[in-house]
Amino acid sequence: MDDDLIRFLDASPSPWHAVASTIERLDGFERLDESAAWDDLPAAGYVQRGAALIAWRLPADDPGAHAPFRLVGAHTDSPCLRVKPRPDVGTAGWKQLAVEVYGGILNNSWLDRDLGIAGRVVAADGTSTLVNVAEPVARVPQLAVHLDRDVNSGGLVLDTQQHLSPVWGVGTQSPGEFAEWIRGAANVDAPPAWWELCLYDVQGASVLGADRSLLASGRLDNQLSCWAAAKALVDARPTDHVAVIVLTDHEEVGSSSATGAAGPFLESVLTRLVAARGGAGDDLHRSFAASACISADNAHAVHPNYTERHEPGHRPLVNEGPAIKVNSNQRYATSAETAAVFQRSCERADVPWQVFVSRNNMPCGSTIGPVTATRLGISTVDVGVPQLSMHSARELCGADDPDYLARAMRVFLAGTD
Ligand code: CO
Repeated sequence: MDDDLIRFLDASPSPWHAVASTIERLDGFERLDESAAWDDLPAAGYVQRGAALIAWRLPADDPGAHAPFRLVGAHTDSPCLRVKPRPDVGTAGWKQLAVEVYGGILNNSWLDRDLGIAGRVVAADGTSTLVNVAEPVARVPQLAVHLDRDVNSGGLVLDTQQHLSPVWGVGTQSPGEFAEWIRGAANVDAPPAWWELCLYDVQGASVLGADRSLLASGRLDNQLSCWAAAKALVDARPTDHVAVIVLTDHEEVGSSSATGAAGPFLESVLTRLVAARGGAGDDLHRSFAASACISADNAHAVHPNYTERHEPGHRPLVNEGPAIKVNSNQRYATSAETAAVFQRSCERADVPWQVFVSRNNMPCGSTIGPVTATRLGISTVDVGVPQLSMHSARELCGADDPDYLARAMRVFLAGTD
């Protein structure tokens, strides 16, 4: 597998870092500011809005402002614990941090892990600074089995307010202590007024298995797809359309935000990409009508210990390629036609592909696919690399699949079909 994915995951403990890691890889792409005029559009460029990013590459021989878009979308955020604005708590000789649950974490997966802290701190004047404390500074300690005799038979029940506060030292904590500590870690002049900080497992991504066939890491959902999208765009040379990747925030909490897929970010940028190339009148609508989108978000691989949880005829295997996700109730945006688009990309890239459908009695999650399709009317296919332990602090996927996904995306974004 490509070691660059391991570097990407390890350098991206928060969605803001995921965007920074992506920008680092966009070699030759020019940064534009949303608040500036876009008179002189670069052939390869990007804009950032918080923990969201849109990057594009124009076709070498631009057929005009009505040229369609080929889009690859993924999300930058992952479920985690986040430090509250007034975090200084503790009891009985322990210093603790008050944390909020972001998204649908697997509660138990956050227990007894060495946790670092990363995200952004913001001064009262609005200055924002990325910070990453890549050291074990906190831990959510599990209760000893001796003090919870039924835990193995009755199952672990955690109250998210009471039982998930990490310890991060001993003694008595005073108000402002965390702010002062993160000031030092961020190397800023004064304790920050505000922050958005994620706790994360400091154990880095590892290739796993006696045959080294697997990849274990936090945030595979969905930084794996962000990495693949960026790699695909960097390598793709579009012919008759504009190639775009769109990485949005807040998917894990429903996508409804200024930086989420349900917000106006993508529509705004696509509209400007048409206008800046002289588009007028029907051009935007002509473009959207002929455009296509791959929404990439990880899928559930068949779990060997719980095979009964999967639809028998549609259970993806690891290292057998990305899965095309189908749900006739439109939890996924895939249609028969858009599935065929992705199938063709896979076949031209010489990449295997699979199909995922969830059990009728087990409603599936959703993705940015239906949201994007609904907002813009662009035909969309939902796909994703199969993985286990989705939303665990440490997830597991096949080592070959991220490359398969990137190769299929590159062919789609380059597009001769
Ligand atoms: Co996801």
